[in-house]
Amino acid sequence: MANENQLKLKTTFIATRGVKEYRATIDRWVGGDDDVLEIGCEWGTTTALIAPRCRSVIGTDVSGECVERARREHPDIRFEVLDGFDVRAAAALGEAFTKVYIDISGLSGYRSLLDAIALLQMYATVLRPEAIVIKSGALKQFAARCRPWRDGGEASPPRS
Ligand SMILES: C[S@@+](CC[C@H](N)C(=O)[O-])C[C@H]1O[C@@H](n2cnc3c(N)ncnc32)[C@H](O)[C@@H]1O
Repeated sequence: MANENQLKLKTTFIATRGVKEYRATIDRWVGGDDDVLEIGCEWGTTTALIAPRCRSVIGTDVSGECVERARREHPDIRFEVLDGFDVRAAAALGEAFTKVYIDISGLSGYRSLLDAIALLQMYATVLRPEAIVIKSGALKQFAARCRPWRDGGEASPPRS
């Protein structure tokens, strides 16, 4: 059963398939007033594309080796080790993030669909960003088949 806070969430979720789509969102969703968190930054390639478009960005990854390489390759960008499923640790990074990018390996397949939804819900509840962009082909396909029912009847049954 949904509680009051779940119903009040204002975060928009953008589901993308593949890294090309994931990065293509930067143009539309990241602006000069944004403080951005990337979860699953690997060597920081996408974080580095986000950096010049926003006020601040932190790239994070569960792998210390990835974070070390990201720091070497992009010394002007902040990178931290973080398990993306530890939302309290993400909150402890201390920024009021307006946009969150999520690209965690293994989260794209159908078996991870519920994990992806749970993660979005957790970040929307705790960090309350304006938008979360996630790389998950399974979630994109699922979302494309969802229609919110409205009194105006936008969700019409298919014609036979
Ligand atoms: C496909 S790579 C990310 C690529 C990167 N976003 C880019 O655009 O270049 C997926 C990353 O997820 C990281 N990862 C896996 N599990 C994670 C977790 N629980 N929390 C944070 N990162 C995780 C992996 O270490 C890996 O670097």
